[in-house]
Amino acid sequence: MDKTSDPAGTATREPCRYLSGFGNEFATEAVAGALPSGRNSPQRPPRGLYAEQFSTTAFTVPRKDARRAWLYRIRPSAAHGPFRRIGNGTVQGPLAPPTPNRLRWSPLPLPETPTDFLSGLVTVAATDSAEAASGATIHLYCANRSMERVFFNADGELLLVPQQGGLRLATECGLLEVVPGEIAVVPRGMKFRVELLASEARGYVCENHDAPFRLPDLGPIGSNGLANARDFLTPVAWFEDREEQLQLVQKFLGNLWATDLDHSPLDVVAWHGNSVPYKYDLARFNTMGSISFDHPDPSIFTVLTSPTTAAGVANIDFVIFPPRWMVGEETFRPPWFHRNVMSEYMGLVHGEYDAKSGGFEPGGASLHNRMSAHGPDAKTTVRAMAADLKPHKIVDTLAFMFETSRVIRPTGFAMDAPQLQPDYDACWDDLVKTFK
Ligand SMILES: [Fe+2]
Repeated sequence: MDKTSDPAGTATREPCRYLSGFGNEFATEAVAGALPSGRNSPQRPPRGLYAEQFSTTAFTVPRKDARRAWLYRIRPSAAHGPFRRIGNGTVQGPLAPPTPNRLRWSPLPLPETPTDFLSGLVTVAATDSAEAASGATIHLYCANRSMERVFFNADGELLLVPQQGGLRLATECGLLEVVPGEIAVVPRGMKFRVELLASEARGYVCENHDAPFRLPDLGPIGSNGLANARDFLTPVAWFEDREEQLQLVQKFLGNLWATDLDHSPLDVVAWHGNSVPYKYDLARFNTMGSISFDHPDPSIFTVLTSPTTAAGVANIDFVIFPPRWMVGEETFRPPWFHRNVMSEYMGLVHGEYDAKSGGFEPGGASLHNRMSAHGPDAKTTVRAMAADLKPHKIVDTLAFMFETSRVIRPTGFAMDAPQLQPDYDACWDDLVKTFK
């Protein structure tokens, strides 16, 4: 196969193997005997490896919140020269003045020139400037070639939502592959390389600057349901021992910095801990809904949450709208008209979102900021009010939402993009007066 039809060398690529569970204290070794037993930092770790702790929460947070891993690697990460600023490209451009207007974008076009994940990363919105220690930043990516450099993000963990084309993530902890319909999360600071499983890739990225994503509490739902912990997959240890010139890029307070290495930093032979990358197939989400009347609050569709210190108030929630049965009696079944304090950035992986009849396309996005009035468009409303309320299955669709307690501020890039639809408000124009 040539490079175009097989950009990631998929014909010969190693299969991915995974460990199951969320937040586990995993332990894995790619070479037998590489993982020390009984202590984290022996005087001389097995196989001549270096021990390195990787912490993504403060050392002293409550044990239930602590995330860290011990990495046993060929060279310690400290072995590098100074980082130098490189051009940011389309990453973290300036934010536009915040707007209360409802906004919607068509999908970005796929690149026509060679573009890897990092050069195809476009920041479209953020809750704050890059210096903030909390909130979230939202990016899109469009790529047509695999990365040769390695990247890590000092500014937050990354939730990847592929929309077109699969990705293979070569991370310090191992290899994981994600395709549209799945998500992947890479911890803050973890080094990784994004390889393409098809000739082109496009998707969404939620960069979470605050508490790492966790599973939401289930309250009266009980001990099962929504995203079940066993369906999250973390790679087994894998490493490459490559001695060649390679660029390591990091994002630090919104800017890209690079240093040159003479070896691959993806050289962790064994590791244990719970600050790890993971993937999840959204088709495994155990969707809950009403079996009597009324559409539940969309929080019932929360896959992952990054909490704030205020109980029940999310820094950022990842919420999906998957295929599901609608059976509500004497009920307006689409997501109702509403105005709420949370801000909502929505994307569509495939199909059609049940609150809109056209205009919201796969790869596109919408933004409904704090207290902005929104809901189903006029066509959907009329149809739903006239519908025969027999049980109906919503199929062939996957929409999602990044929902935050902060205001979401589009970047200048997003506000100037030709994909910004000038007439989004018009989808509610035909909501006529029916009062008698
Ligand atoms: Fe909403």
